Amino acid sequence: MLSANEIRTKYLEFFKKRGHTIIPSASLVPQNDPSVLFNTAGMQPLVPYLLGAPHPQGKRLVNSQKCVRTQDIEEVGDNTHDTFFEMLGNWSLGDYFKEDAIKWSFEFLISKEEGLGLEKDRLYITVFGGNKDAPEDTEAFDIWKKYVPEHRIYYMTADANGKEPNWWSPGDNGPCGPDTEMFYDVTEVGLGDMTKEEYLAADARQDVVEIWNDVFMEYVKKDGKVVGKLEHKNVDTGSGLERVAMVAQKKTNIFETDLFSGMMKIISENSAIYNERAARIVADHIRTSVFLIADGVTSSNTDQGYILRRLIRRAVRYADTLKLKDAFPALIDEVARTYDTVYENISTGIMQIKKEITEEEGRFRKTLENGLRQFDKFVQEGDISGASASMLYQTYGFPIEVTEELAKERGANVDRAGFEGEQRKHQELSRSGSEQKFRGGLADHSDKTVRLHTAHHLLLRALQIVLGSDVHQRGSNITQERLRIDFAYGQKMTDEQKKEVERIVNEKIGEALPVIRTEMSLEEAEKLGAEHEFGAKYPDRVSVYSVGPKDATESDPKLNERFSIEFCGGPHVKNTSELGRFRILKEEAISQGVRRIKAILE
Ligand code: SER
Repeated sequence: MLSANEIRTKYLEFFKKRGHTIIPSASLVPQNDPSVLFNTAGMQPLVPYLLGAPHPQGKRLVNSQKCVRTQDIEEVGDNTHDTFFEMLGNWSLGDYFKEDAIKWSFEFLISKEEGLGLEKDRLYITVFGGNKDAPEDTEAFDIWKKYVPEHRIYYMTADANGKEPNWWSPGDNGPCGPDTEMFYDVTEVGLGDMTKEEYLAADARQDVVEIWNDVFMEYVKKDGKVVGKLEHKNVDTGSGLERVAMVAQKKTNIFETDLFSGMMKIISENSAIYNERAARIVADHIRTSVFLIADGVTSSNTDQGYILRRLIRRAVRYADTLKLKDAFPALIDEVARTYDTVYENISTGIMQIKKEITEEEGRFRKTLENGLRQFDKFVQEGDISGASASMLYQTYGFPIEVTEELAKERGANVDRAGFEGEQRKHQELSRSGSEQKFRGGLADHSDKTVRLHTAHHLLLRALQIVLGSDVHQRGSNITQERLRIDFAYGQKMTDEQKKEVERIVNEKIGEALPVIRTEMSLEEAEKLGAEHEFGAKYPDRVSVYSVGPKDATESDPKLNERFSIEFCGGPHVKNTSELGRFRILKEEAISQGVRRIKAILE
């Protein structure tokens, strides 16, 4: 039986042999994608390259990208849903297209030697059936006919709700296109030939499971509308490792695969009252929390930190329903063991991960019992009003989802809109309009935002000069109005320190230093001491941005004499003289050991 680690390696090797360069997973927290809190698909960190920028590693890439999706959190506990997953993906950036993509998908799934050795007779295929933007994909259909009987290939069009099952786009803006999806029959007896109607019914019953999606990205969307074609045609394929492991290991659900089985064993052996769904939720949420913390997320009331908080608190509550005591450290160790050879930032960060989860559990426990008592009082009076839900959140730290779940168990409703209205009144959540639109990286590529991005680099370096060289960035968020940096530092900055940081940044602006992008090997960049993105793993060739010295040029960037150097995809201004005057607006703590600065250019 293939282990998940073997599947991952086999996949990467299969495509390496076919001319692809293996690139590491990007951090779960996107740095330059304003539209999402986490990478939710393998394509997200690659968007600039899908849109046409040359990738330093070439036109054929392959990876296993860490992803977190929490919109289906309610489904976790069934056979196939999880909040963290790895997406295996092979990428053509203007290189091969449908013919090779389909052939290789099929070969990898079926080949015993090089691939998974799955049964060809359990495979069903869907292809794009056409819409107003693009015609039905007869080309993909004809290619598939070479491998799979024609009556097992189905054209799919929009469903009654207008949802397009075979058109993939990450949101309202960006690259998109038709796709073809591979489904695998997971029933014991086998479903055999099916009409389209029978196939749709099997899909609804989860008797077939989607295991791979080949997207043929040749279109681009703006504000929800397809507005034209991309500079070049790309292939974006995505195959969920957990699901592929499930079918390759002949399991009926992902929690029986070797990615989860160790955790499930610990939970079942230590629970006084066993419940399969609750056990799966605990396993899933702890695993996801481990990955998030390893990538630099800490619990808080906003953005990524809030998702982490919710996951840990939900895990605590379900652990309580299982009467599962003190098992989190063992579960964390088990995650570290499972991924030991793949994501070493888990093992190296294990102390911090345990500390963060234990502390967050402790914070929740302090108020949990009283909160539950208060909740009981509310629910005895009927539905939970917005004000009550807000009180449970503000006073007892109950994430709204926890309140909603508790209410559901008791057959009551929660006034969610009312809750959100109440929350807006609380200052900690009342962020400015532009901030609400996005959560990390650059809000856009406007001149103002780009100027602040360069100022952000100057600021980080100035902070290191003033506060010490172990100050590193934990998060960033840049709009047209202001920049925001989160960084690891244990104390409040003094006024003198803030002034000194401002002075250094303005001095560098005054010196009119060139800002230069250079591509180099990862090793070289590390040797130069280029600033890393927290928790990120980088490919062998990287792009770095350096500021200064004054006589640096693209052909001779004089990197040893630079003022600042960071791993970064850009964009930046050409010269610091374009920036204007730099001013710090605010310095504050956002969580233990993490400070936040907001600053502007005047
Ligand atoms: N972007 C597609 C998906 O997430 C294929 O990778 O399904």
